[in-house]
Amino acid sequence: MGTSLKGKKVAVLGAGKMAGILMQALLKEQILSPQHTRATVAHEDKATTLSAKFGVPVGTNNIEAIKGADIIFIGVKPQVVAGVIDEIREHVTPKQLIISVAASVPNSLIEKGLAAEVPVIRAMPNTPCLVGAGMTALAKGRNANSEHLDMAAAMFNVVGRTVIVDEKHMDAVTALSASGPAYIYIILESLAEAGVKVGLPRDIATLLAAQTALGAAKVVLETGDHPALLKDAVTTPAGCTIDAIMELEEGKLRVTLIKAVVKATQRAKELAFT
Ligand SMILES: NC(=O)c1ccc[n+]([C@@H]2O[C@H](COP(=O)([O-])OP(=O)(O)OC[C@H]3O[C@@H](n4cnc5c(N)ncnc54)[C@H](OP(=O)(O)O)[C@@H]3O)[C@@H](O)[C@H]2O)c1
Repeated sequence: MGTSLKGKKVAVLGAGKMAGILMQALLKEQILSPQHTRATVAHEDKATTLSAKFGVPVGTNNIEAIKGADIIFIGVKPQVVAGVIDEIREHVTPKQLIISVAASVPNSLIEKGLAAEVPVIRAMPNTPCLVGAGMTALAKGRNANSEHLDMAAAMFNVVGRTVIVDEKHMDAVTALSASGPAYIYIILESLAEAGVKVGLPRDIATLLAAQTALGAAKVVLETGDHPALLKDAVTTPAGCTIDAIMELEEGKLRVTLIKAVVKATQRAKELAFT
């Protein structure tokens, strides 16, 4: 893992929460070296603090930061991307790879903003990257190839799992795995509340709910079995689980979750920058 990043020089433009998590993990795992990593932020005082935190040069000059970089990582907010691209447009070469995590910013927007035919990859990670259990989808732009995708995957594999999708699926990815942690937190909060209702101390109820969700997710990932099959294995005839399932069905949990993801996908489409 990460071999395709050995010796690569990386410039992180916008080392905020998301890019900071990734940069810190890559430095910790020694996949990137501090000598070959630079970053930028908008404010000088932040740059000084982050430089000490990450142990790499952090400045506010994007043009300076990308000089000699193999990979330019864009971590600024979506509405700032066009401005940053405009700033660096004459300085980026086709030998460099741009990876952007900006939500709702298509590869074409970055490609159009640059003077040369530069490879671009759009990534959609999620917040569990913070604990190494992230889910990131990658979609390549018109000038990127499988080697570029390998490099991007090597980066995001350090903080979780990676899938490669066609860019047309990025709104769906946004709605499912990028917004998804929020849905799961609501489910965990509700299960913990239920535990309290039936007499458990809150901390124990929260632990039971969270570890159960983690365990169930792990079984799905490791066995590859259909979730319905796994659910059936827990559901004893005339037992407790089937009574709970009847309540969930009456409360329309399934259709509610489906509709939530459909709505979020539509919203992601509306928010897309062009
Ligand atoms: N958080 C998530 O769950 C998540 C998931 C998927 C994708 N994303 C994407 O990740 C991106 C960043 O989100 P975030 O939550 O990490 O935001 P954030 O913490 O606000 O980070 C943005 C960073 O960009 C810096 N910045 C602003 N203007 C700049 C400029 N012109 N040049 C260089 N740096 C500049 C800011 O510097 P200062 O600190 O000095 O202001 C800040 O450090 C967004 O595009 C978002 O769509 C986030």
